Amino acid sequence: MAIKSVDICCGLAWGDEAKGKIVSHLIQKNKYDWICRWNGGSNAGHTIYIGGKKYATHIIPAGVFYNIPCYIGPDCLINVDAFIKEINYLNDNGFDTSKIFVSGNAHVITKEHVNDDISQYQKQQGSTGSGIAPCARDKFARKGILLKDYDKFPYKDNIWTESHSPLFGDILCEGAQGFWLDINHGMYPYVTSSYTLPYSACSLGFTHRVIRNIYGAAKVYDTRVGVDPYFEHHDAHLYKDTFDNIATIGEEYGTTTKRKRKVEWLNLDKMIYAINICGTNIIIMSKIDILEKINTFAYIYNSEYVVCDDKKDFIRNINTIILNKCSVVDKIIYSDNPETINHL
Ligand code: IMP
Ligand code: MG
Repeated sequence: MAIKSVDICCGLAWGDEAKGKIVSHLIQKNKYDWICRWNGGSNAGHTIYIGGKKYATHIIPAGVFYNIPCYIGPDCLINVDAFIKEINYLNDNGFDTSKIFVSGNAHVITKEHVNDDISQYQKQQGSTGSGIAPCARDKFARKGILLKDYDKFPYKDNIWTESHSPLFGDILCEGAQGFWLDINHGMYPYVTSSYTLPYSACSLGFTHRVIRNIYGAAKVYDTRVGVDPYFEHHDAHLYKDTFDNIATIGEEYGTTTKRKRKVEWLNLDKMIYAINICGTNIIIMSKIDILEKINTFAYIYNSEYVVCDDKKDFIRNINTIILNKCSVVDKIIYSDNPETINHL
């Protein structure tokens, strides 16, 4: 059976844009045959609410919560111990993990990779310490370990080693991290060591011609974990208390590392650039409820802070600017709760 269509959900910022919620919503609304991950490893953290209960995954796609086959592609990096731990966590919570497949060409993150990451990247660049950069280094030096050659991966039947793509039907690809963490387009060297843009979803094994919708995940304010001297506006000190408030009320703590995230007003200059390169036709802006709680609405445009009168003014301005500057965008949706998205 051939591949019929591919939908992609990618992050338009620095990760943590509620991709998990969007993917979970799309799975319930549409009929998909496969849910796939194309990049990163257990550095990512996806939060999903099901029946009011909160779940967190790092490498396994959200399809597992809905009994849909999942595929983790050849560009992903696998820490086998972390993978087993995640499978056990899902099994303990009653989810069937028998339909999770991994490409045999995915690379294995070793203990040395994790140690190198902790000693060379964690402090200096604020990496998650999951071994991503050293594993990618060895992959590109062509001395890495492929999953299919690794003895200690216990789920041998779930490895895809065929030379053809195992995928068919309607596919949803969930991105990890976000635009500004991409190794090519992000703020190098303050990036991750993978391709976070939708073009790289094709590494799963399909042509870009089958791509249907590209959903762009964003938040109504920006957040950043890890080191990044380019993140903050030069006047960020003026809003220090407000940003602290947003971080607390918005529960802006890393899913993987539990670190408190830095907050900044939404940078529309950056977002416009990201949208136009990603080609995201539907934009989901999350966490408008957090700005309602602090009752302050602002953004950055043309490198300046713009403060709005109210929520209506904020949404109207943002929609006008984005629709004007990004002809690819059909629809912008604002979401005000962690579990569902209306109008998507
Ligand atoms: P690494 O991916 O662990 O090498 O980290 C590189 C940079 O990407 C650091 O600034 C991390 O904080 C950031 N990063 C990696 N994964 C995520 C994520 O899933 N969400 C947000 N930031 C991330
Ligand atoms: Mg996350």
